[in-house]
Amino acid sequence: MDASAATPRVALITGGASGIGRATAERLLRDGLRVFLVDIDRAGLDRAIAELNAGAAAEAVASGAVADVRSVRDCESAVRAALGWGGRLDVLVNCAGVWVEGPSDTMTEADWDRVVDVNLKGTFFMCRHAIPPLEASGGCIVNVSSDAGLWGNKGAAIYCASKGGVTVLSKALAVELAGRGIRVNAVCPGDVDSPMIEYQAHTFGGGDPDAYKRDLLAAYPQGPKTRFIRPDEVAELIAYLASERATPITGAAVSIDFGLTAGY
Ligand SMILES: NC(=O)c1ccc[n+]([C@@H]2O[C@H](COP(=O)([O-])OP(=O)(O)OC[C@H]3O[C@@H](n4cnc5c(N)ncnc54)[C@H](O)[C@@H]3O)[C@@H](O)[C@H]2O)c1
Repeated sequence: MDASAATPRVALITGGASGIGRATAERLLRDGLRVFLVDIDRAGLDRAIAELNAGAAAEAVASGAVADVRSVRDCESAVRAALGWGGRLDVLVNCAGVWVEGPSDTMTEADWDRVVDVNLKGTFFMCRHAIPPLEASGGCIVNVSSDAGLWGNKGAAIYCASKGGVTVLSKALAVELAGRGIRVNAVCPGDVDSPMIEYQAHTFGGGDPDAYKRDLLAAYPQGPKTRFIRPDEVAELIAYLASERATPITGAAVSIDFGLTAGY
């Protein structure tokens, strides 16, 4: 593997076809990295890669692979594919995620397996397979947790369990990998204006998605001035944590939530 300074830096972003992952790809390109997107959604992935390469000069700046992060084998082959394409790996951003909500006494084993396997197991096994190339490059990991990884969301126990896991997993990896030169941080966004929020509002909004969204915003301390966070705002934080400017920062769970989890 060539991790020399002459080879452009490479970021692997799971969930890169949509929302925060897609915005992160765009933002990291502006920092001069090449991006390798991993997603289960083939059509979305192809579209994102084509759009990201549209403005590029001769050589592609974006590539990717279809993978299901619930599969350990897919995680391993996604890292291998990124290395095969880019020759090195400098940044891993784990953004792939899914939501479920509802009273806990209605939840099924399938709900638990899907959400915990995508959000937590997938994050761990992407990290696990990325450790050797990240050690070679002196790279870093940013895991996308949530406000739900810091406190309880009523009616979303499984999602909270998965994201609480991501937050503390990131801290545990940070202390484990510090001696090998790898930083690991988590970002904890509040409600972000992405396809996930639309899915939540339409699936769990009882037929009134606008009311569902109003209820979410009512929890914020800004009152009527509240709005959802934009994916590019989360991407900005991820890009900062992935940059050399953030060299002293590891093991952090950084909130970007308009103060939602600060108190009430
Ligand atoms: N939207 C929010 O309000 C919000 C708030 C806090 C945290 N988050 C977290 O941010 C991350 C990104 O979410 P988003 O809002 O951009 O949602 P999104 O739905 O726009 O993007 C999620 C992406 O993950 C991909 N994905 C889902 N399952 C996968 C699997 N098994 N393997 C590979 N890819 C898979 C989807 O295809 C999609 O492209 C998630 O981890 C989410 O939990 C979102």
